[in-house]
Amino acid sequence: MQQGTTRDGFSSKFGVLVAAAGSAVGLGNLWRFPYMVGENGGSAFIIIYILLMVVLCMPVMVAEFMVGRRAKRDVMGAFDVLAPRTPWKGIGVLGLTAALVILGFYCVVGGWTLAYMSNSVVPSFLSQTETYANSFQNLIAAPVQPLLWCFLFILLTALVVIGGVKNGIERYSKILMPVLFVMVMVLAVRALTLDTEMKGLKFLFQPDFSKVNGNTFLAALGQAFFSMSIGMGAMITYGSYIPKNSNLVKTSYGVMSTDLLFSLLAGLAVIPAVFAFGISPSEGPGLVFVTFPEIFSKLPLGNILSLIFFVLLGIAALTSSISLFEVLVAYLVDARRLSRRKAVGLVTCIVCVLGTLASLSMGTLKHLTIFGKNFFDCCDSLSANILLPLGGLFICLFVGWYMKPADVRDELTNGGTIRVPLFNAILFILRYATPIAILMIFASGMGWI
Ligand code: PHE
Repeated sequence: MQQGTTRDGFSSKFGVLVAAAGSAVGLGNLWRFPYMVGENGGSAFIIIYILLMVVLCMPVMVAEFMVGRRAKRDVMGAFDVLAPRTPWKGIGVLGLTAALVILGFYCVVGGWTLAYMSNSVVPSFLSQTETYANSFQNLIAAPVQPLLWCFLFILLTALVVIGGVKNGIERYSKILMPVLFVMVMVLAVRALTLDTEMKGLKFLFQPDFSKVNGNTFLAALGQAFFSMSIGMGAMITYGSYIPKNSNLVKTSYGVMSTDLLFSLLAGLAVIPAVFAFGISPSEGPGLVFVTFPEIFSKLPLGNILSLIFFVLLGIAALTSSISLFEVLVAYLVDARRLSRRKAVGLVTCIVCVLGTLASLSMGTLKHLTIFGKNFFDCCDSLSANILLPLGGLFICLFVGWYMKPADVRDELTNGGTIRVPLFNAILFILRYATPIAILMIFASGMGWI
């Protein structure tokens, strides 16, 4: 077990914020959020999503950071340290499972991003005769090509993770995140000027609550957890690398606001364009891959803009998959005492197998379904709609009811050296509000109430 000063960690408060925000901001914001908004009816979904995120999910992030920093261990080990010989360790099992399930489909989408990145360099990419929806379909259903891109994405992730926390994760995130922000801004501004009839803006800002049901809440909750990287121990693992003098509540606010900002910007970049080009907002997982080439094709320097966008998407995906990898690697290093290299190797092999299944489920293995869904969709909805909220529920119960409030306060105030004005509100939310809301949303999403 690596403890105290020997444990690798983030070197500065800014580094912590950037790395955690790098984990949060990813395909969840730029790929998943726009199609969720499209499928779930636009602005009503967005409002519910924002409320859930600010009120119920932010405290879960605080709780995860706190558990991680107090225990200084991986997601399994943290509960061994804070609650030895108790079933709370189950949260760790749930977290490791969620990390694998998410990586299973995440690396496939990461691979599509790399494919589009390289396609952008081909001059004829934007002047092809077939529709963008068709060429996307052809790419993802092919047996070999998407698989190779998926493996490349996994390899890139593994290389950064081998570098460790300070030299790998923090160094890359610090440079990549701000660049990413500027790029999405540029795209959003460009897309808004295309939506001359403002149909996209109406879809985004004129709420229609008549279509809201239990499923809308479940989808918004799942999206909030997924997007903030909470409910599966990524933030526990990153929390274990946070220095003692960081303000955990402020850091969580920072990460949440950055994440929210990226999602809204992504919505502003995608949805107006969807309407401007007559694409169906409920196109599903292909939405971003169909919409953007369409915009780029009608813009000067389209290929270059397209290259920029897919580089951006690739970077965002990478800083998130790094954190998913890190959950598994930290466990293998801390609890199984593997060397960092061996741990990364093992995780890489397992993720390659899962990625292969998810990638092939878009074409060759399309007919292999579980509960009517292919492997890719199963991983997506199992993680966001079940595993993450369930993990979040138990983390809330652990911090709210099992840990002593004095210990929680001690960790959040850095041993009494800083003030945490909303401490009681955070504790209340962790004890009552979030658990009850998660249970109710589960029940109504499943059609039980
Ligand atoms: N938040 C990441 C994204 O939006 C995905 C993720 C989920 C990463 C859970 C880590 C843990 O792309």
